[in-house]
Amino acid sequence: MEVLGIDVGATGIKGSIVDLSTGTLIGEKVKMKTPSPATPDSITSSIKQMIDVLQWTDKPVGIGFPSIVKEGVCWSASNIDTEFIGFPIQDHLEKVLNTKVKVVNDADAAGIAEMTFGKGKTLSDKLVIFITLGTGIGSAIFYKGVLVPNSELGHLFYKKSVFEKYASNSARELKGLGWKSWAKELNVYLQHLNHLFSPDVILIGGGVSKQFDKYKPYLNVECMVETAQLLNDAGIIGSAMSLRS
Ligand code: BGC
Repeated sequence: MEVLGIDVGATGIKGSIVDLSTGTLIGEKVKMKTPSPATPDSITSSIKQMIDVLQWTDKPVGIGFPSIVKEGVCWSASNIDTEFIGFPIQDHLEKVLNTKVKVVNDADAAGIAEMTFGKGKTLSDKLVIFITLGTGIGSAIFYKGVLVPNSELGHLFYKKSVFEKYASNSARELKGLGWKSWAKELNVYLQHLNHLFSPDVILIGGGVSKQFDKYKPYLNVECMVETAQLLNDAGIIGSAMSLRS
C-alpha cells in the first residue's frame, strides 16, 4: 500500500509517498519551509500545497506533528503557534482535504519507522529511547516494541528552562557552540535519561545524527548510545505508517 507521509517540523515540512510494506520513499521528496507564524491556517495551506505538488488529492495522508497529539487534537505548542493548543488538527484536515488523515506526534512517528525498518528491527525485546535533536527535542519510548506515546522527554526541566533549550541542535546553532561545549549539555541530558529510565539503548535521530563522530568522543553515558539508521526520512515514513493504526 502507498500513502503520503508528511513530516511537519518547526523549521521545515517534508513529504513523500511511502511504500508501507518496505518503508521506502517512492518518487520525489518535497521540502518546504514551515510558515511563520505556524498557525492552523498557515500550516493547512502548506499541507495543501504539498498535496498539490505530489498530486495526492483525495487520498489518505499520515502526518507527524511537533506537538502532543491525543486522538487527533494538539495539546502543546513549543515551537509552533499557541493557537494549536486544543486544536482538533486531524478532524480539521479531514474536512478541508476531504480524505482520511491521521496525525501523530512527529518523534513518535519517526521512532515507529526506526523500530520497524531501521536499527530498532534488532531491538524489539529491549527498552529503547529514540530522540530527535532538531529545532526541539522529540522523544519516543519503546518497551519490547510497544510505544509509550507523547513522552516529550525534551521538556524535562533543566537549569532555567527545559533540556531542549540546551541540548537540541538549534540550541547549538543559536548559541554558536562548538561540538565539545554542546556535547557537554547533551551528555548531561543523556545521563539524565539513563538514570530515569535505564534504557538498553538510546537512539539519536534528526539531522545532527549524521555528525555523530564529531560529538561522540565527549559522551560518557552508561547505556548504549547509537545513531538511528533512517536519518531524515524516518519522520516521513513513520507519518505514513500512522495510517495503519
Ligand atoms: C515538541 C515535541 C516534538 C519535538 C520535535 C518539541 O518541542 O514539544 O512534541 O516531538 O519538539 O519536533
